Amino acid sequence: MRKYKSHIARKLSSLTGMDESDIGSLIETPPSDDLGDLAFPCFSLAKSLKKAPAAIAGELKGRIEPDEFLERIETKGPYINFFIDKKRLIASVIAEIAGAEENYGGSNEGSGKTIVIEYSSPNIAKPFGIGHLRSTVIGAALKRIYSHLGYSVQGINHLGDWGTQFGKLIYAFKQWGDEARLKENPIEHLYEIYVKIHQWEEEDPGIADATREEFKKLENGDEENTALWERFSDLSRVEFEKIYKMLGVEFDSSPGESFYVDKMPAVEKSLMDLSLLVKSKDATVVDLEKYGMPPALIRKSDDTSLYATRDLAAAIYRKNEFDFHKMIYVVGVAQTLYFNQLFKVLELMGNKWVADCHHASFGWIKLGDEMMSTRKGNIVFLDDVIAKTIEKTKAIIEENSPGLPEPEKVAFEVGVGAVIFADLAYRRDTDISFDWAKMLDFRGYSGPYVQYTHARISSVLRKYGKGVPANCDSDLLKLPEEFAMAKILSRYSDIIDKAAREFEPFHISSYLLELCGVFNTYYQKYKSAEDRILSTDPGATDARISLINAAGIVLRSGLRLLGISAPEMM
Ligand code: ARG
Repeated sequence: MRKYKSHIARKLSSLTGMDESDIGSLIETPPSDDLGDLAFPCFSLAKSLKKAPAAIAGELKGRIEPDEFLERIETKGPYINFFIDKKRLIASVIAEIAGAEENYGGSNEGSGKTIVIEYSSPNIAKPFGIGHLRSTVIGAALKRIYSHLGYSVQGINHLGDWGTQFGKLIYAFKQWGDEARLKENPIEHLYEIYVKIHQWEEEDPGIADATREEFKKLENGDEENTALWERFSDLSRVEFEKIYKMLGVEFDSSPGESFYVDKMPAVEKSLMDLSLLVKSKDATVVDLEKYGMPPALIRKSDDTSLYATRDLAAAIYRKNEFDFHKMIYVVGVAQTLYFNQLFKVLELMGNKWVADCHHASFGWIKLGDEMMSTRKGNIVFLDDVIAKTIEKTKAIIEENSPGLPEPEKVAFEVGVGAVIFADLAYRRDTDISFDWAKMLDFRGYSGPYVQYTHARISSVLRKYGKGVPANCDSDLLKLPEEFAMAKILSRYSDIIDKAAREFEPFHISSYLLELCGVFNTYYQKYKSAEDRILSTDPGATDARISLINAAGIVLRSGLRLLGISAPEMM
């Protein structure tokens, strides 16, 4: 609808003098078809025109002529409702999708602009948590969505590879490190000794001093500690890489927090020059009481640096390096206060661009009982969850489609797709629960359902037996279900815009589910009728094939933006 929106915005702008893009962003999709295809609410004009919105709507309606795009215009209270010419909509959406293929729904709004997205960011020497999965999947989807809109996107993995925990780990490794186990299962071994040192510290405060000392040595470049830290870091990166590969996720860089260590003194100096630093009992802080927040910790009394200091350095570094249009941190809701503090300190330092920084937070994942049973010790390892999901998918596929070619590959694509979709099927801030029954319900609110609908379209196209026709007579598409499908396909671009604006890949997943519903209704209708999609009338068949081919392209595109494959058969 992007095209129709701009057409209407242009008209309204010339009548009211209001900015075209402001109008564009106010145009909505009405809640039901009898209210038209697009609507403009007149509230925003009431103030400047000193009239009631409903009166403005009536007046404007009288001055807009229907044209080749707009069949008729009506008003309902403060809304002007636009009815798009049906035939034209169907014909243009089919042609546009066939022409653009996988680029459909894209734009060049981002040309020349860079978006920095920070996502995943697991911690070295710790298991890749289920929470990090959400960050990874949401961030990677946002990266593809923004790229689709023509932005240049920098995907950054802010690995937790610095901080006092490394003092503990080094100390623990010097005590209990086991080379063989480190080789065999690095993260499990490191995590195990980390948990052990934690307990020991609680029993014996002297140990805490010793581990702090190890971190201090690391910060001061001690050779032995640096070498240990490097090994832990390398081993963890290799493990994380396996997960990224499974999920099909990439980064432009994975510098980790340690990268910013030598950039911190400059930050601290400017904080000092601005007299923002105050001493509190065991740390140097920026006081944020005036803003209703606890102080931001910059340096500890033992002179070691902190998470926030590294984040300040990172933000400033990225602004200098990428001159971003926006920077998006995809981090759990538990760190909301922390990001508010971080942004406030950046603002106090005079960085006006902090207005372009956003914390795209997300809720918790709760694991169903069955999934919890994959636990080792107290934690559930993500690679185990994914492997088990693939195994279960394979069993379902073997039962549903015996003899399917490449069952392993399909099970992998569907299993991983199920995990990703389950993660993106709700608004970010919603707490979600993961359970296999729901995630792998091929007829439900799931990734496999969308993939299955796509495969069904591919199957009809295979039966058609020829290439999709270059031209068709779309006037032959007369069913209301056909218009409904064309209409939802034309909304794809608006959905992408909205997903980007709100940092919500969920808009795409719920759109895909809706599109599947519209397609499946259409498909069922033909299945039970005398007439089939592949009918005896070649003209009608070509038109229907063109329409469902367009639906297939959009499903594939949407799945791709979410990071999910679209197998042709399943
Ligand atoms: N490594 C952190 C964690 O696991 C997340 C990092 C978030 N990003 C940031 N710039 N602070 O909690």
